[in-house]
Amino acid sequence: MWVAGGVALLIYILTTPKNIVLANSNIEIDYQKEHKEFYDECISCHTLYPPFLLPKASWVKMMDNLEDHFGDDASLEDDVKESIKAYLVENAAETSTKESAYKGLKSIGDKDIIAYTDSEFWKKRHEEIDKEIFKAKNIKSKANCKACHLNIEKGIIEDENIKIPKQEN
Ligand code: HEC
Ligand code: HEC
Repeated sequence: MWVAGGVALLIYILTTPKNIVLANSNIEIDYQKEHKEFYDECISCHTLYPPFLLPKASWVKMMDNLEDHFGDDASLEDDVKESIKAYLVENAAETSTKESAYKGLKSIGDKDIIAYTDSEFWKKRHEEIDKEIFKAKNIKSKANCKACHLNIEKGIIEDENIKIPKQEN
């Protein structure tokens, strides 16, 4: 019976594209379709950071202080702000089984962090990259994830499509 169960599970995994075992890490998410305001507002200055990167508390703190957002004024109308905040909280790290979500969450814990790049997990995973690379003209910042994580704006960060571009100085 166990063998039959195993075979059935294997067939399920291999034949169901959205199966619960593999679903989480490499299914593309269409954020523009999921929440248009989040997409439009939060992609205008930088990479669209997937909601599962940060814990609920970090999103709330960030969204309640958009007037001083990393030195920029990113403030929004109240109703738009509340709607984006709710979407981020609903899809925060606590709700995801992606490696970048649960390892990020574990490393952020209850520290007062609103940047994923401030987490120990992010630092550890990028410590072998020469600091000069982040200063290159075509990368500019460590927060410019999409320069190297080609599909991050579709919610795909891990393993595939990571490529450090040739530096332009
Ligand atoms: C007016 C421009 C602007 C807008 C609009 C904006 N941001 Fe930012 N954001 C910034 C800047 C500048 C930084 C710092 C980037 C850096 O360190 O290079 C930043 C950083 C961040 C970071 C931290 C990235 C890291 O280092 O891990 C997050 C998360 C973030 N923004 C989320 C959002 C969300 C969510 C929205 C939409 C509500 C948004 N931003 C809209 C300018 C903006
Ligand atoms: C200059 C290129 C570059 C930038 C910019 C960059 N990363 Fe990475 N990132 C990498 C590389 C290369 C790896 C793979 C490291 C390894 O092999 O362990 C990586 C690994 C990761 C991992 C671990 C996943 C895995 O499969 O090992 C996460 C999560 C991640 N990055 C998130 C981010 C986020 C979020 C940002 C922006 C806030 C970002 N990175 C910015 C190059 C970059």
